[in-house]
Amino acid sequence: MAENKKIAIYPGSFDPLTNGHIDIIQRALGIFDQVIVAVLHNPSKKALFTMEEREQMISECFQDEPSVLVDSFGGLLVEYAKIKNAVAIIRGMRALSDFESEFQMALMNRKLNKEVQSVFLMTGFRWIFTSSSIIKEAAQFGGDISDMVPESVHRKLMEKFPKLKA
Ligand code: PNS
Repeated sequence: MAENKKIAIYPGSFDPLTNGHIDIIQRALGIFDQVIVAVLHNPSKKALFTMEEREQMISECFQDEPSVLVDSFGGLLVEYAKIKNAVAIIRGMRALSDFESEFQMALMNRKLNKEVQSVFLMTGFRWIFTSSSIIKEAAQFGGDISDMVPESVHRKLMEKFPKLKA
């Protein structure tokens, strides 16, 4: 039975996790038996949160959801997907502007490994304009983003940005 488990990887920077990401994970759980949220370890990209912080915030959010695993990876995503026996890579789609780069990445991933399918899920309408970058931008100047991130993430953002109030 365990071999028949349909596993999907949801990769990303998650710097930090947003409610938009959570929406995608919940949709993916309706299709797959297990979703591995995989944080990319990319030393050349400057991040606000460390790998450990990012993984911890995601784990905290899904502590009551055994079908969600949190992990990190480096190198090629399709190789990681193969190691994890994943059948799919999940990516969230917001506005049309996401399409071009996602399409390019999906085709490259397919070229590198034909066994893994890219699955695009439409985010809930409420999160169409939500991104980690825009949230960090607003939060650093004290903008209220409390309804765009889970509580654990909001707490960590307040630690990083003293101007941000509860
Ligand atoms: O949250 P992000 O930053 O949009 O996620 C991008 C991510 C992690 C999905 C992408 O950069 C990735 O898969 N990187 C690993 C290297 C790789 O396999 N790239 C795609 C084929 S070139």
